[in-house]
Amino acid sequence: MTVQETSYRIAIVGATGVVGQEMIRQLEKSRVPVASLKLLASERSRGKMLHFRGEPYTVEVADPSVFSSVDVVLMSAGSSTARALAPEAARRGAIVIDNSSAFRMEEDVPLVVPEVNPEALATHRGIIANPNCSTIQMVVALKPLALRYGLKRVVVSTYQAVSGAGAGAVHQLQSELEAAQRGETVEPSYLPVASLNVKYPIVDNVLPQIDRFETNGFTFEEMKMIRETQKILDAPELEIAATCVRVPVTVGHSESVYVELGRELDDMDEVMETLRAQEGLVLWDDPSVQKFPTPHLVRGENEVYVGRVRRDLYRANGLHLWIVADNLVKGAAGNAVQILEKLIDNDLL
Ligand SMILES: NC(=O)c1ccc[n+]([C@@H]2O[C@H](COP(=O)([O-])OP(=O)(O)OC[C@H]3O[C@@H](n4cnc5c(N)ncnc54)[C@H](OP(=O)(O)O)[C@@H]3O)[C@@H](O)[C@H]2O)c1
Repeated sequence: MTVQETSYRIAIVGATGVVGQEMIRQLEKSRVPVASLKLLASERSRGKMLHFRGEPYTVEVADPSVFSSVDVVLMSAGSSTARALAPEAARRGAIVIDNSSAFRMEEDVPLVVPEVNPEALATHRGIIANPNCSTIQMVVALKPLALRYGLKRVVVSTYQAVSGAGAGAVHQLQSELEAAQRGETVEPSYLPVASLNVKYPIVDNVLPQIDRFETNGFTFEEMKMIRETQKILDAPELEIAATCVRVPVTVGHSESVYVELGRELDDMDEVMETLRAQEGLVLWDDPSVQKFPTPHLVRGENEVYVGRVRRDLYRANGLHLWIVADNLVKGAAGNAVQILEKLIDNDLL
């Protein structure tokens, strides 16, 4: 099968969410020939109208029976929905690309960033996992360094946009901003974690909690970055520490990353060349003209931007990087649609 010969019956589960909306845009822009499209969500969205390539579509409820007439399911509706629906879709012969954390660490589920570990797709058994947004952008930059120098240790601090927590978090930021303009305050409604009782304001604030805390003191988001990076880079022994922080930015995650390489660095030009050669990475770095990536710069882009590349002052194998990407595009929908294109190109559907 090639892209030219066959077209595909596609369903988007979670089509009304922030990732689902971006999924529609990414599919519109993609090379994927779409024979039919179903836009699915929960009972709350039944009957809502959305558009794909100018045509109106009515949102249907994601019921397993729908998957009988579908080839590919792009799923972004949270872990519990994925656990309930993805196996039902796979059982009916559809291939699921899931954005939640439900299946990422399962041994027989490929966890894929197409520029980093496309070979993992060949082993899929119906469900493929899209990694966590903050993991995706970091591994695109770590992969070429791992190949050339080896990796010993990674320490990352993130500055993550509110859209990473979904439509409810975007709404909290907007309503706090509107209230501030009126000289008022509103009770925080959603962040840091919708399902937990304690809430914090996000305007004029930063929150060092993304997802729930685990018993080791790290959050689940931080542990996702650690475990998923080890799985994608096939480096179970790689030492990683993560601190994940929510900031009052709508779209675009930034990361300050310290890497200890497998050997000493003697040539920074070689480091720059190594990063520049990586597919899907844009080196955006020139302190002499204050050139570095920001969330504004990367909005809508599928590439990962890297700047502020500098050697550590004390360790000859230490390197610092600043990594920025659009969390809804490369961190979610763009990566998922890229996986679909890879599956088609490699005859793996
Ligand atoms: N935001 C990001 O940057 C990002 C990045 C990577 C991965 N993800 C993952 O992508 C998923 C969606 O995130 P989001 O940010 O788009 O969240 P969101 O804006 O809150 O959207 C959630 C979507 O899931 C749907 N949904 C909820 N329960 C459902 C059910 N029982 N059956 C069918 N659909 C259901 C919602 O439909 P209704 O509108 O009907 O409620 C909505 O379309 C999550 O698993 C998240 O972890 C998000």
